[in-house]
Amino acid sequence: MATERTLILFKPDAVQRRLCGRLLTRIEERGLKIVGLKMLNVTADLAREHYAEHVEKPFYPLLEEFITAAPVVALVVQGPEAIRVMRDMMGATNGRDSAPGTIRGDYGVSRQMNLIHGSDGPEAAQRRFPRDGRAAFDEDSAIAGEGFDLVVLARDNGHSGGHGIQKDGAVSAVRFRLKEQIGVEDGFA
Ligand code: RTP
Ligand code: MG
Repeated sequence: MATERTLILFKPDAVQRRLCGRLLTRIEERGLKIVGLKMLNVTADLAREHYAEHVEKPFYPLLEEFITAAPVVALVVQGPEAIRVMRDMMGATNGRDSAPGTIRGDYGVSRQMNLIHGSDGPEAAQRRFPRDGRAAFDEDSAIAGEGFDLVVLARDNGHSGGHGIQKDGAVSAVRFRLKEQIGVEDGFA
């Protein structure tokens, strides 16, 4: 039995729908340990790094638009076979296909807005986001407790207000889809 660490993201829809607490509870109640926690805006560069295996796929532009549109919460979760255990807890990619009892199966029916990301293997779990100052996943600082203060980073695009306020267009786009797909439009205040 290997103790592993895995990178988990609560995606923008989970944050906007105020589900972070529930998701954290589920992870902790399962017996896994939170060893790092950070809220951040995923930049386009970060998205390309994080989803490197998907950059050339037709769905990538929409995936990037979604993951960069509003803050995510990044966690480092540790425990026995944590990578697989978290993937099992998350459920199938498409909410419509995920089993009840899984996070995606309990909280959504969308393929895009599927609430949570979890590393799919050791290589992905160890892949670090570039630019140290914004590292979402840094094992050393997670263990040391450094760099995991709860902050919302401003975007680079000059449209931020210093509190993670997003570019109007991006907010509108995601708000529209939230309303259309899951009937939720609140959450951008
Ligand atoms: P994730 O990486 O986000 O945790 O999700 P996953 O492993 O379950 O799924 P993956 O195959 O890695 O896909 C990454 C994200 O891309 C979107 N997607 N769209 N239109 C499509 O065919 C399609 N396929 C995947 C989903 O939002 C998925 O979470
Ligand atoms: Mg994946």
